[in-house]
Amino acid sequence: MAAKTNASVIILASGNGSNARAIATNSDLASRIAAVVSDRKNSRVLDWATKAGYVSTHVSLDGCRRDRADQILLDTIRPFEPTLIVLAGFMRILGSRFVDEYEGRIVNIHPSLLPEHPGLNAIERSWNAGDRRIGITVHLVDHGVDTGPTLAKASLPRERFADLSAAVEGIHELEHSLYPAVIAEMLSRVSSGHVGSDSFSLPSSTLRAVLPPHAQLDMPKEAPE
Ligand code: GRF
Repeated sequence: MAAKTNASVIILASGNGSNARAIATNSDLASRIAAVVSDRKNSRVLDWATKAGYVSTHVSLDGCRRDRADQILLDTIRPFEPTLIVLAGFMRILGSRFVDEYEGRIVNIHPSLLPEHPGLNAIERSWNAGDRRIGITVHLVDHGVDTGPTLAKASLPRERFADLSAAVEGIHELEHSLYPAVIAEMLSRVSSGHVGSDSFSLPSSTLRAVLPPHAQLDMPKEAPE
């Protein structure tokens, strides 16, 4: 399913931007990135976005209460009329004002198999907890922290990793393969008017095909093949 030609995404990110870069290398998404917005002025993600020729914007949110930060972000983003908001390592919690305006259209990636290990340092906590599978969750953003409806999860068995740093690398590989594919599917659904539970039924075969060998895909609800 192809996204409508005017469909676009805004990426919100704070750090390295490896997921933003992975999104930009997806052929369905590269030309859909309307802007990369960061709350960290000297972040690698902004540096990359600027050099890559994307509209890149720093928003100064330090010391702002959540409501004010929401307002600044909304004022920054609205002119782009984005179809989807993609969080890629955005280290702030969005408030209800923001979430309500883009309800069902904000996607996040989290480096654990939610609902296990929400919040910070999730890979380390999953590893230290002795989890038998180490994985990631792509989900819609709701009013909680890492609580929104799951779109897709991918995981690898713990024994594939020698240590925590190998697990971190494996997690990033999973993220960079699954996240762009989920976003591309979501973009086409949302741009053709499927917001809400309709947008959840993503095609598992398409997503499974992008994952590294041995990875397992879990979907809450699958589209008919
Ligand atoms: C990723 O691990 C993502 O799951 C989490 O933040 C990290 C961002 O990494 N939400 P990067 O900036 O995309 O490299």
